[in-house]
Amino acid sequence: MEYNRISDANIITAKYMDSILIKERLIDSVVADIKTDFLGSTFDMPVMTPAFSHLGKYNDRELTGLEEYSVAAKELNILNFVGMMENDMFGRIAATGAKTVRIVKPYADNGKVRDQMQYAESVGAYGIGMDIDHIFGNQGLDVVIGEQMEVQTADMLASYVASSKLPFVVKGVLSVEDAVKCAEIGAKAIIVSHHHGRLPYAVPPMMVLPDIKEALKGKDVKIIVDCGIASGADVYKAIALGADAAAVGRSMLPALEKEGVEGVKKFIIDVGNELRFIMSCTGYSKVSDIDDKCLVKTTF
Ligand SMILES: Cc1cc2nc3c(=O)[nH]c(=O)nc-3n(C[C@H](O)[C@H](O)[C@H](O)COP(=O)(O)O)c2cc1C
Repeated sequence: MEYNRISDANIITAKYMDSILIKERLIDSVVADIKTDFLGSTFDMPVMTPAFSHLGKYNDRELTGLEEYSVAAKELNILNFVGMMENDMFGRIAATGAKTVRIVKPYADNGKVRDQMQYAESVGAYGIGMDIDHIFGNQGLDVVIGEQMEVQTADMLASYVASSKLPFVVKGVLSVEDAVKCAEIGAKAIIVSHHHGRLPYAVPPMMVLPDIKEALKGKDVKIIVDCGIASGADVYKAIALGADAAAVGRSMLPALEKEGVEGVKKFIIDVGNELRFIMSCTGYSKVSDIDDKCLVKTTF
């Protein structure tokens, strides 16, 4: 018998997410409220944009894709994320007025890390952070678009936290061990993620979530999940398994490319609407009430 091995974490993650089913609890239920308190603000939903980079202008439109989705985030009143970029581009993102967390790369040039974080704070970023899951590559330390990456120690991360008044977000946490270190260094949020499958056989973020949630109990660290989030059902499952919020990813790209700001808005509103529908059908009136009581894990 032939057996096809699948090491692609995106496929493993999708399969895991689809193996989780939802029970209804309708009697006494109400239309749910999806507003969410997160790091000091109330957002319209617990859905966030992904920390993307290198999106140029689509179809000769005026703004780059990064600015377009940032404008959408502002108009939707959701938390916005961006990734690798130089300061001038971040300045343009900040100018959209979106509440934005800048995820800085783990550059070998530590001066660049600090400069990008300071710049973000100076132009009004909502938070700063780092994607710790893009340090290594198959040749050792990775080089990303010509930029050398470097190992980040807990002490280095703690010094970034101490260098700014902004909440610090560590992106790319996929174990209890790293989650606990993030709490110890003073991070205010983590993004549980495998960075769209960089690591073969990476565990689905939702699979490690319950353990991470338990390990962070009583600690002041918010949990965001990304990877494969494409619907309200995905966001619901993430929150039910322990997240405070979830970020869409490549799932928003077709809408962004086709219709820019309006496309992203429509896509994310649909995600939020499905989340509200499922919460209402499962007897949760607000996001902070959601737990795993209505989830059923199947093996078929
Ligand atoms: C075009 C593109 C650029 C990205 N750039 C960054 C980046 O600069 N920093 C980062 O932390 N993650 C980056 N990511 C990863 C996303 O933030 C996110 O973790 C990932 O796309 C989630 O998986 P999904 O697309 O399957 O939902 C990028 C992803 C894409 C598709």
